[in-house]
Amino acid sequence: MQSAHRPRIAIFDSGIGGLTVARAVRDRLPGADLRYLGDTARLPYGTKTAETVTRYALQAARALLGEDGADALVVACNTASSCALPALEAECGLPVLGVIAPGARRAVAASPTGQIGVIGTERTVASGAYTFAIEALRQGASVHGKATPLLVGLAEEGFFSGPLVDAALDAYLGPWLERRGPGAIDALVLGCTHYPVFKEALAAWLGRRLGREVALIDSAEAIADELATRFPSATTGSGATELLATDGLERFRRVGSGFFPMQGAALRLVDL
Ligand code: DGL
Repeated sequence: MQSAHRPRIAIFDSGIGGLTVARAVRDRLPGADLRYLGDTARLPYGTKTAETVTRYALQAARALLGEDGADALVVACNTASSCALPALEAECGLPVLGVIAPGARRAVAASPTGQIGVIGTERTVASGAYTFAIEALRQGASVHGKATPLLVGLAEEGFFSGPLVDAALDAYLGPWLERRGPGAIDALVLGCTHYPVFKEALAAWLGRRLGREVALIDSAEAIADELATRFPSATTGSGATELLATDGLERFRRVGSGFFPMQGAALRLVDL
């Protein structure tokens, strides 16, 4: 008897941040084969132009899909999702899932007031992609974006909490929240896939500042749910994991294991 096809899911980000998405996908679809690429040689994407990010995203997709292809491509990078989805869809000819639409849906569902904050890279915030997606789902919503690019570096360095993270939150979000007053926001989109590692630090920081809870929105679960609906056969079983990086494989393994359980995964350096 021929064995059933194991869905193959390709995922990429500029670095290790997208491993937060890969982890949710792995947990929800243990029977899928995952191939992840972190473009560590060219991180960060968030300070680059839309043209450059689109070029990098297409190269990452080509490397991931290679000769054997995939059943779906997950753009586990908000920056690339904010500008490269049309080009990826046009070239790849397979379902391409970005992180912005699912994050926007979750934010709208979690925000009774419609006052929604979005933190992300400069490119993601400047693109207005979350604003468009949220306003299309909920009329009258107010989306307040704030670029917090240093958080990417802190995550890549393995600082997920502590004084450095608090200092970055003070500097970026302190004045930003003060300008908006106490009613400011009731949901905050983690609009960069590196940011879920700061969930605890952010919840504590926001609690101290606002004296109440703010819903922290992470697209990873939403993407994993969507994939589980598309590939129900992969919600059980045991698939293979291949992790590719464009530079610093050892560092990728060391820091990335804080994001994704790497035991049993094949690691490989690739050149785009
Ligand atoms: N993790 C990426 C994102 O979601 C970007 C980090 C970067 O390369 O600037 O936007």
